[in-house]
Amino acid sequence: MKFFVDTADVDAIRELNDLGFVDGVTTNPSLIKKSGRDILEVTKEICDIVDGPVSAEVVALDYDAMVNEGRKLAKIADNVVIKLPLTLDGLKACKTLASEGHKINVTLCFSANQALLAAKAGATYISPFIGRLDDINLDGVDLIEDIRTIYDNYGYETEILAASIRTVNHITECAKIGADVITAPANVIKAMASHVLTDKGLAQFVKDAEEAGIKIV
Ligand code: G3P
Repeated sequence: MKFFVDTADVDAIRELNDLGFVDGVTTNPSLIKKSGRDILEVTKEICDIVDGPVSAEVVALDYDAMVNEGRKLAKIADNVVIKLPLTLDGLKACKTLASEGHKINVTLCFSANQALLAAKAGATYISPFIGRLDDINLDGVDLIEDIRTIYDNYGYETEILAASIRTVNHITECAKIGADVITAPANVIKAMASHVLTDKGLAQFVKDAEEAGIKIV
């Protein structure tokens, strides 16, 4: 399973990348706003830090403008993935930009039918938003399962990029279902390493090592 970090915070990306857990990065207009940075400048900086795919999202809503913005974003670096919203114009732009050889992440997916259309439009990634479905009392993880079944039924190569991940349990569920990628905030990815019994066990080992005077170097 690939881990993308969902942020435009370069310090957080650098820290997680140094830990070896960054296969890619996803951003969106809200995350760019939070960073307080210019989109072109911060995307370039992220692409210089990370070797893997870096999603940068268009802000236009109509087909022609989306295609123009997408081409501009793609010029930033070879590892830029153009992120497009799941609208009819976005799907049309997906088909055009994918046919030019660009990698596309279709975002704001909330149904299996939307995911089916994105695959037919040639998306490299589909981003179903788990947490936002949970927010309205639907089951976001069920959607990942439905998309997995549909894509496998027809051999679609579009990768399922589970997004809007809020908890470590979301990641476990996505891994069990076979999502290709998760994108999550850095703190959620780091929290995967935590377990109360690990902390308790380590405290005991440290105590015993001190008491026994164990020295290795
Ligand atoms: O990748 C999409 C993600 O940023 C949305 O997350 O927590 O705002 O629903 P959230």
